[in-house]
Amino acid sequence: MKNITRRQFGKALGGTAAATLATGFLPRIAFAETPAAAPLRFPANFVWGCATAAYQIEGAVNEDGRKPTVWDTFSHTPGKTFQGETGDIADDSYHLYKEDVKLLKNLGVSAYRFSIAWSRIFPDGTGGPNQKGLSYYQRVVDELLKNNIAPYVTLFHWDLPQALPGGWQSRDTAKAFADYAAYVSARLSDRVGHFFTTNEFTCFTDLGYKTAKFAPGLKLPDAQVNQIRHHAVLAHGLAVQAIRANAKSGTQIGLAENATVYVPVIETAEHIEAARRATREENAQFLTAVLEGKYTDGYLQREGANAPKVEAGDMGAIGSPLDFVGLNVYTPEYVRANSSPAGYTVEPRQTSYPRMASDWLYIGPEVIYWAVRNVGDIWKPRALYITENGCSADDVLTADGHIEDTDRVMYLRNHLTHLQRAASEGYPIKGYFLWSLLDNYEWADGYSKRFGLHYVDFKTQARTPKLSAEWYREVVARNAVE
Ligand code: FCB
Repeated sequence: MKNITRRQFGKALGGTAAATLATGFLPRIAFAETPAAAPLRFPANFVWGCATAAYQIEGAVNEDGRKPTVWDTFSHTPGKTFQGETGDIADDSYHLYKEDVKLLKNLGVSAYRFSIAWSRIFPDGTGGPNQKGLSYYQRVVDELLKNNIAPYVTLFHWDLPQALPGGWQSRDTAKAFADYAAYVSARLSDRVGHFFTTNEFTCFTDLGYKTAKFAPGLKLPDAQVNQIRHHAVLAHGLAVQAIRANAKSGTQIGLAENATVYVPVIETAEHIEAARRATREENAQFLTAVLEGKYTDGYLQREGANAPKVEAGDMGAIGSPLDFVGLNVYTPEYVRANSSPAGYTVEPRQTSYPRMASDWLYIGPEVIYWAVRNVGDIWKPRALYITENGCSADDVLTADGHIEDTDRVMYLRNHLTHLQRAASEGYPIKGYFLWSLLDNYEWADGYSKRFGLHYVDFKTQARTPKLSAEWYREVVARNAVE
């Protein structure tokens, strides 16, 4: 809630409330006379959207020339995903995309963030393009535009073509990505105004090559992991340059990054400063490198002999100017100031800290405000988008066909309230993409975690709007959260 609204609200309550608080009685009449709090409005032209990703929704993994990706291989390897589940069919959006555009239309959103499967366009990652793959995305874009929904395209959401030798261990993969980005942006930028290069560096580098939780499922030593991270940010930078050189002029380019978000334990000057320092230093290998075109001294010192090998020109490419920064925001870390050289310490989490259905999804709605504020204050980007925010919940279809996901509505309402604070304080936040339009393949968690505004029966592919879909439609229509 905006400060001013809070003050007005307090004033309206006036002496009656104060008096009753003192005596301990609840004055029903006084509250009935209280004017409703003003809705928390978002700026004019705020972009409301939903997000998805190719491997999580498309299915049709062998169709029209698509070749396998590291996620096909990983999910088909026994023991890697929940009950061995794969994205072979997922939401079958490859065939049902028109139905999914209708869902977007019914929500009233003006934008849709989806990703392109690299191996539909270049089945082997490099080499000759596959016209049938491109045609599919042209059809999706046309369908969106016909419905006045702006396409926001992510070029890489983890589904790396399996054929690329060494995957992200190879520097050549960064170059191959730039060529793919050039090809796609040249062909779609007449109708697509916004491109994201990569989605969430840490999930396809660290989780894929260090902890083995995600594809390709390796556990490599630190020096190699740092090199892989370097190839990832390099891929982003080379792709920015390639899109600028090949896309229609005016095309907006950014990335979608899940920088770790540091929230001050208490909103005082010293802890706010600690959060800012932590944001810059703890994200040094990814977002800081991208927005500053260099690795921080702290990162290079910490990694020592394991630091990445950087070639001439790399850092310039990595720091290529962006039109906007996209932030995927789910969960907070809390930080406090201290007298160490770094100036901060990250707080351990209490065991009682609340979370949603996914074990990593701790609930701290102020995270979205601090994501925007920290990034806005440190790097002053021209524009910011929330490119993902949402939650898993134990959704149950009732006998009469409803999903009363009041917990998801609680999560979303609180996050949007805090996002509105950032907007009201003048941060350049231009839009919000809710993850996700519909339940889908949640990577290693398979279909066991539902993030959608629409419930999907994975046997019949029936889509049913949840309570949260109804709620989001109201938010979009009012351009406000109440
Ligand atoms: C993000 C991913 C997205 C989805 C959500 C829940 O990390 O980008 O694909 O899995 O989490």
